[in-house]
Amino acid sequence: MTTETTTSAKLHQKSCVVFGATSAIAQAVASEHAKHGYALALVGRNQEKLEQIKSHLVTLGASQVSIHVQDLNAFDKHEELLQGILAEIGQYDRVLIAQGTLPEQRDIEKNYALTEQCIKDNALNTISLATSIANAMEAQKAGKIAIISSVAGDRGRQSNYIYGACKAMVTTFAAGLRNRLQASNVHVITIKPGFVDTPMTAHIPKGALWAQPEDVAKDIMSAFEKDKNIVYTPWFWRYIMLIIQHVPEFIFKKLKL
Ligand SMILES: NC(=O)c1ccc[n+]([C@@H]2O[C@H](COP(=O)([O-])OP(=O)(O)OC[C@H]3O[C@@H](n4cnc5c(N)ncnc54)[C@H](OP(=O)(O)O)[C@@H]3O)[C@@H](O)[C@H]2O)c1
Repeated sequence: MTTETTTSAKLHQKSCVVFGATSAIAQAVASEHAKHGYALALVGRNQEKLEQIKSHLVTLGASQVSIHVQDLNAFDKHEELLQGILAEIGQYDRVLIAQGTLPEQRDIEKNYALTEQCIKDNALNTISLATSIANAMEAQKAGKIAIISSVAGDRGRQSNYIYGACKAMVTTFAAGLRNRLQASNVHVITIKPGFVDTPMTAHIPKGALWAQPEDVAKDIMSAFEKDKNIVYTPWFWRYIMLIIQHVPEFIFKKLKL
């Protein structure tokens, strides 16, 4: 793990820590925060991409940007990573957890090692980070943490039930955390995007239901500002998933979804 800050000064209290900061959605959220003068701590595994993102965020108006190069599947490095970030920012203000992968269901369903990798990529690293951050926020009696789950976690489908199961784990974890921490003035936001045009979905043909990362970022900013709990983004996915969740199982199991 390497850590680099723009200056030795502590980051301003108005800060946002972004995990999986090279993600297209995370970059759009970081850009919105930069425009509002936030200090940003970016965590990702690709230093070159992080440097490019940092330059862009400084141009947009971020008061400070630090970079932390870390593969987030290195669970044994999480405490050191988080201590380094906390040493910069003093205490957590806003946190976004965005990293994830979308492996091909047909490849991973026949190979448990790949299934386990998917669970690490999409659930366990998020849960590990959120556990430590939530405990720190609970102690400081403040903080907002937004966790990107997915509509895929709302119901298992044959085309992506392993990724979906990971996101279901994240959704349930975030719900419990929100319930536990509301008494401590800590706010937990579950973000459930539908189809978003990002590198993760570059191979999938696009249609009318697709959103851009910037649209999702605006919803995430609004969720931070208005202390929302569960955010479907774009909004219409709430109704699509309501219908999907209510299809009786004896019909649902026969559908090619
Ligand atoms: N796009 C969609 O349709 C969609 C829908 C619902 C939910 N989501 C969720 O939205 C989040 C952001 O994804 P995105 O759409 O913005 O896709 P993306 O641009 O492909 O971003 C995924 C990011 O996760 C990072 N990452 C993966 N594993 C990592 C690890 N072990 N350590 C550090 N970074 C890691 C990748 O880093 P590298 O750049 O180094 O590869 C990449 O930047 C994900 O949680 C995804 O599951 C996306």
